[in-house]
Amino acid sequence: MTTPTGAAISARGLRKSYGDKTVLDGIDLTVPEGTIFSLLGPNGAGKTTAVKILSTLISADPGSGEVRIGGHDLAADPQAVRAAIGVTGQFSAVDGLITGEENMLLMADLHHLPKREGRRTAAELLARFDLVEAAKKPASTYSGGMKRRLDIAMTLVGDPRIIFLDEPTTGLDPRARHTMWQIIRELVTGGVTVFLTTQYLDEADELADRIAVLHDGKIAAEGTAEQLKRLIPGGHVRLRFTDPATYQSAAGALPEATPDDAALTLQIPSEGSQRALRAILDRLDSAGIEADELTVHTPDLDDVFFALTGPVPQAGESGLPSELQEPAR
Ligand SMILES: Nc1ncnc2c1ncn2[C@@H]1O[C@H](COP(=O)(O)OP(=O)(O)OP(=O)(O)O)[C@@H](O)[C@H]1O
Ligand SMILES: [Mg+2]
Repeated sequence: MTTPTGAAISARGLRKSYGDKTVLDGIDLTVPEGTIFSLLGPNGAGKTTAVKILSTLISADPGSGEVRIGGHDLAADPQAVRAAIGVTGQFSAVDGLITGEENMLLMADLHHLPKREGRRTAAELLARFDLVEAAKKPASTYSGGMKRRLDIAMTLVGDPRIIFLDEPTTGLDPRARHTMWQIIRELVTGGVTVFLTTQYLDEADELADRIAVLHDGKIAAEGTAEQLKRLIPGGHVRLRFTDPATYQSAAGALPEATPDDAALTLQIPSEGSQRALRAILDRLDSAGIEADELTVHTPDLDDVFFALTGPVPQAGESGLPSELQEPAR
């Protein structure tokens, strides 16, 4: 199952163009076994393209480097790769005309499971994904969340050790998203490797061991959520005052602060640690100043994402967090 390095997925110099449009411009990826890797990127960044290449659905451009999945060379042995993986695409693979149970049995047939084992696996997975009651109903009558759960249940029929999930929670309500997160965590606890694409930064923050941000065909940054957050400045402490005189003396005591005379606030660059906060408070104390409000801002993945993939939306553009925007389908 493993390569000598213990990577479930590794790719070097992955390239893909459509006509003269370069979608993936030589990207490197390594996903250790039993971990969650999240590929982040705005619409059209190439996330689905990457998933399709790594899961053998389309081929990379000639001249791409080696890709190994579950220890198998993707180019030399795509059949072995297919046997090791499961894929839940961005768009549902559920057949709406047949029931949830029939969809599951169809998958069992595709995996050549003996009839009895197929039935047992289908029943187990339907139960695990809370679809027992719905199992005998046509899948077209399922809600989006139920369809997504059925999609993942179908992916698990062959007991894959490496799973690709392309935007598994887009369009799900908060409760359904949390259920999906729980399912993904349980998979990883069982030793499965998960390659996840998402537009939800909180999702990557919550789930992923490592995150890569795809931008302009390249990996703009890669690391743990904490490492990515440290990449960008922007951490600060904000002090707010109601009395202009107090504000003025505070500005004098903290000359490095950026003042906002209209709002009576001071913004001090800081990584937000206890020690840094204490230093600021000590200086205010010794000047006999008390702030009316103190807030600590640590950069989150949103800040990282905007810093890496383009300017922060200006007035008039949509400045909503990505989870509040229209899902991209
Ligand atoms: N078969 C194709 N022919 C031509 N261009 C394509 C094809 N498939 C994808 N593309 C282009 O490749 C780019 C990347 O598409 P891809 O679907 O990988 O993006 P994505 O990151 O998954 O986006 P989203 O978040 O919207 O799902 C887009 O510009 C898309 O138009
Ligand atoms: Mg996509």
